[in-house]
Amino acid sequence: MINKRVLITGGVRRLGLHIALGFAERGSILGLNYHRASEREADHAQSECLKHGAKQVFLLKGNITVEAESVVHRFAKLAGEIDIVVNNAGVFPKRESLSDLTPKQFQQTLDLNLMAPFAIARAAIQHFPAQGGAIVNLASLGGVQIWKERIDYNVSKSALITLTKALARELAEKRITVNVVAPGAIQIDSETEAKIGIAEDRIPLGRYGNPQDIARAVLYFAFDAPYVTGQCLVVDGGRSVT
Ligand SMILES: NC(=O)c1ccc[n+]([C@@H]2O[C@H](COP(=O)([O-])OP(=O)(O)OC[C@H]3O[C@@H](n4cnc5c(N)ncnc54)[C@H](OP(=O)(O)O)[C@@H]3O)[C@@H](O)[C@H]2O)c1
Repeated sequence: MINKRVLITGGVRRLGLHIALGFAERGSILGLNYHRASEREADHAQSECLKHGAKQVFLLKGNITVEAESVVHRFAKLAGEIDIVVNNAGVFPKRESLSDLTPKQFQQTLDLNLMAPFAIARAAIQHFPAQGGAIVNLASLGGVQIWKERIDYNVSKSALITLTKALARELAEKRITVNVVAPGAIQIDSETEAKIGIAEDRIPLGRYGNPQDIARAVLYFAFDAPYVTGQCLVVDGGRSVT
């Protein structure tokens, strides 16, 4: 098996960790970025990934809204080159009313959900091998349809889908594919309906998604789709067709 060198932002907790475990099972060399997670959580993610088959795991602490480039270059220095980037880190703020959402808060959402993936991708390009690689972004069903009280989130994720398509066009000549996964409601660590924000029976397939549903979609783009680029895969149990 070829040990792919994979950078995952927000990779030590929640969905990011499950995605990392999927790559670990493929023997990858992982760079797990984190920001507010504790050292203990980061160490736990590292040991879980090694148990699941990762060849090496590098922990990369850093706030990607201000130090995206340094996170990328640190990983490239440790791993040699970068084959796959997963832009997973994101924020999902809820605003009770429009007056609740200040331009500054809007900007902060854009900084993490849109500008950081751009900065990470831009910095990573110079570290891809000549044969290319893959960039996979994590958007949301909220980037495809409009949700109440989520204006900044809706805009940031739909723009991330557009960014994905634009980068796909731009990077095709370097044989770098760029695709995006748009999850619906995913249940992580037994979260309740109140936390998830939608009743399970409103989802056509009759259940919330689980983190593995998302990890599988990311792994598909990363390993099994060399002729697919600029595409958005909605993983939502059919909610987008209701
Ligand atoms: N969960 C869902 O149901 C769902 C649905 C649709 C889309 N998504 C998308 O899928 C992705 C992962 O979802 P999630 O629920 O696991 O998200 P999450 O819990 O809100 O956060 C994901 C990660 O983002 C990282 N992060 C936040 N600010 C950062 C910064 N400034 N620099 C570096 N990392 C930062 C966090 O790392 P630290 O903890 O280390 O700070 C966290 O682990 C997100 O992009 C999200 O929008 C999730």
